[in-house]
Amino acid sequence: MIAVAGLGFVGLTTALGFCEKGLRVFAYDIDAKKTDLIRRKKVPFHEPHLREKLAEHLGGNLAVVDSLTEAVKASRVIFFCVGTPCGPDGNADLSALQNAVGEALKAVDGGELKILVIKSTVPPGVTKEVIAPLIAAGGLVLGHDVALANNPEFLREGYAWEDFVSPDRIVIGTDGAAGMELLEEIYHSFNAPIFRVSWNTAEFIKYLSNTLLATLISYSNEMSCIARAIGGIEIGQAFRILHTDKRWSGSPAKMTSYVYPGCGFGGYCLPKDTLALCARAEAKGYSPGLIRQVLQANERIKDRVTEQILQTAARDETVGILGLAFKPNSDDVRDSPSRAVIAGLLEAGHANITAYDPLAMNNFHQAYALPIEYAGSMEALVQAASVVVILTAWDEFVVKRKLLADRRVLDFRYILPEPASDKVGLTQCN
Ligand SMILES: NC(=O)c1ccc[n+]([C@@H]2O[C@H](COP(=O)([O-])OP(=O)(O)OC[C@H]3O[C@@H](n4cnc5c(N)ncnc54)[C@H](O)[C@@H]3O)[C@@H](O)[C@H]2O)c1
Repeated sequence: MIAVAGLGFVGLTTALGFCEKGLRVFAYDIDAKKTDLIRRKKVPFHEPHLREKLAEHLGGNLAVVDSLTEAVKASRVIFFCVGTPCGPDGNADLSALQNAVGEALKAVDGGELKILVIKSTVPPGVTKEVIAPLIAAGGLVLGHDVALANNPEFLREGYAWEDFVSPDRIVIGTDGAAGMELLEEIYHSFNAPIFRVSWNTAEFIKYLSNTLLATLISYSNEMSCIARAIGGIEIGQAFRILHTDKRWSGSPAKMTSYVYPGCGFGGYCLPKDTLALCARAEAKGYSPGLIRQVLQANERIKDRVTEQILQTAARDETVGILGLAFKPNSDDVRDSPSRAVIAGLLEAGHANITAYDPLAMNNFHQAYALPIEYAGSMEALVQAASVVVILTAWDEFVVKRKLLADRRVLDFRYILPEPASDKVGLTQCN
């Protein structure tokens, strides 16, 4: 038995979606006008398929109830789908969620374990820092009386039904406590990959998705402004031609390699071309704020990488740099982030730096003549260094990761397996 609190776009779709999968659902909304409509088989907003699905399941698998207490008492798993609107200071207003969880906890009697599932979108850290403490404040024990999961929803309005019943992925954020097997079982029939991650990761994934979409839209709008300022550009056609790039298609699309963190873009094209378009737009009277920020962010990430190395390695330790080319499978070192990072370390007083790259060592030495050592192999580099820093995503570094087992490793290309914990920064390699 499942309870769903909040019957808006997400909640009503969730309730009906679970009914469709054969589960019995107790649905509750604080807004009596909304529940009255739903009881009369009317969907309070426009969303394809929901009217037919409501007519099909109401009185069968779907019961609309008048109190959350009733829904919680009858259920093992409680999904919270209430709104988390923008507060006056820009923070998410969590009051509806806090009220709903608080109300639900009053109905938990410590008999069987209840699984509370936050489906509302909440910023990273909220499940741990705001919701979990409500459980303790209610005199209940996390993992004993109540299990807590974060399960972000990725549906799109207008396609809510299709997206919910045929999701691309199910993300379950957990603190590792018991109870998640039941949640996974509920999702089993959705035939989608289920990813079990930490609470913070689950919350973060939702924001990764939404901020990327927001950034892409603003990027496109800014590029249209640049095009208008320059003139003579068929803007719609230019974008449609952009979409023919092979990197958009396939699964996973090659474009995904550009949506992955690292230590900055480099090479011959991206830095100079981005800069040149900014200069051209400015000459034509348009100030491209977002694209300028892209260039600034590319400088900031190299500074951040350098700072993190400085925080990890003492000045007298040998720092081993794995990767000098601006990207793997290339010996091009033009504008390589490794140059900026190594220069930053030298400037900060790190005299002992050894570097290894499968292809780019000669080019790097000739281009920059920095006072560092070069190791003949990854093995030799690891021998020499106590802190190893990955700056280029070469396969060799992943294949030979066992070599790094007893070294402190900073993996700024995120290519090594990550520790399954809150520890961020130093990566385990064994
Ligand atoms: N709309 C989307 O496309 C979408 C997609 C993914 C995630 N989300 C997220 O899901 C959450 C819900 O979004 P939505 O679009 O369904 O919002 P919505 O405003 O349509 O619905 C929220 C419902 O929660 C009800 N509610 C408020 N407090 C309550 C309480 N204490 N108990 C029971 N019900 C209560 C409201 O009356 C309302 O009906 C938000 O966090 C949103 O960011 C939305």
